[in-house]
Amino acid sequence: MEEELKKERKKVILSGIQPTGIFTLGNYIGAVRHWGLMQEEYQCAYFVADLHSLTVRQEPAELRRRTLEAFALLLACGVDPEKSLVFVQSHVCNHAELSWILSCYSPFGALSRMTQFKDKAAKHADNVNAGLFTYPALMAADILLYQPDYVPVGEDQRQHLEFTRDVVEHFNGIYGNVFRMPEAYIAKTGARIMSLQEPTKKMSKSDTNPNAFITILDDPKVIVSKFRRAVTDSETEVCFREGKDGINNLMSIYSAVTGMSFEQIEHDFEGKGYGDFKAEVGSAVAEKLRPIREKFAELMADRSYLEQQCKIGAEKAAEISARTLLKVKKKIGLLLP
Ligand code: TRP
Repeated sequence: MEEELKKERKKVILSGIQPTGIFTLGNYIGAVRHWGLMQEEYQCAYFVADLHSLTVRQEPAELRRRTLEAFALLLACGVDPEKSLVFVQSHVCNHAELSWILSCYSPFGALSRMTQFKDKAAKHADNVNAGLFTYPALMAADILLYQPDYVPVGEDQRQHLEFTRDVVEHFNGIYGNVFRMPEAYIAKTGARIMSLQEPTKKMSKSDTNPNAFITILDDPKVIVSKFRRAVTDSETEVCFREGKDGINNLMSIYSAVTGMSFEQIEHDFEGKGYGDFKAEVGSAVAEKLRPIREKFAELMADRSYLEQQCKIGAEKAAEISARTLLKVKKKIGLLLP
C-alpha cells in the first residue's frame, strides 16, 4: 500500500493572477499567501496572466512594468521557482494557440451568460471587444494545458472555472479522455477581505479611494494610518457579529496575519476601544508585510535574475503544455507538421 502511495503522482495546482497593479492585502490573504504554503504538498504552477489584461486597454510601458513586478511579487510572497513552475502567460505561446482551438468548442450562449463579461462590457462600453467575450476560453486553455487537479480561484472566477469544466465535458465527450477535470480549490481559511472604507464591498486595487485598500508594498506608516481611518460602527465592542462588517473585516485580517482565533482576539481586546484595536491590526499587518516588501525591493534591483527566472519558467511551461497541445491537435485532426 505504501509503495503504491509513493508512486502516486503529486496533485497539481494551477492558478494565475493579472498584472493589473500591486497585489492588495486581500489578494495576499485570500490567495497568494496560500500559493507559497501549498508548494510542499502539491506540484504547483503559477503564472502572470498578462494576455487576460489585454481585454481592457493598457498603457504599453505600464503593462510591461507591471508584468515583471507581478512576477517579482509572486516570488516575494513565497513562491519558490525551485519548487513550483512560475512564468508569464504570454511567454508560452501554447496558451494562445489552445485558446483558439477551445474557442471553437465554447458555445456563444454560455459565453454571453458570463457575469464578468456582462459587468466589464457595461463598465467599458466603448471597448467591448472579442477578447473580453472569449476570455473564458483563454482561461480554460491556461488551466487545461497543465492538467491540474485543483484550481484555487476567488468567488469572481468561479463561473469561469465552471465554464472550463463544461468545456472538458464537451471535449472529452467527443474525443475521449483528453483533459483532466479540474476542481475548484477552496482554501481552509478562505477569508474574503473587504474594503476598509465600505466593508460590504470586496477590497480592490482599482478602488478610487486609496484608503479603501492596502497594497502589500504600502509603507508601514501608510498601513497604520489607513487602518486608523477604517470604517467601523457606532458600538465599542470588538467582537465578530452579523452587521459589524467593518470590525468583522478587521478581525478576519488580524486573525489571518497573527493566526489568532476570533475568540482569542475578542478576549484580548475586551474592554479596549476600537482605536486600540485598529492600531494593533495596522502594526501587525505592517510587520507581516515587511519581509515581502524587502524581498520585492531586492528582486527588483536584480533585473537579470528576474529575467532569467522568467525564461526558465517559460521553457519548462512550454515543455509541459506542449504535451497536452499535441494530444489535442492529434485528436481534432490537425495535420502535424
Ligand atoms: N482570470 C483570472 C483573474 O482575473 C486570472 C486567470 C487567468 C486565472 N487564467 C487563469 C486564474 C487560470 C486561474 C486559472 O483573476
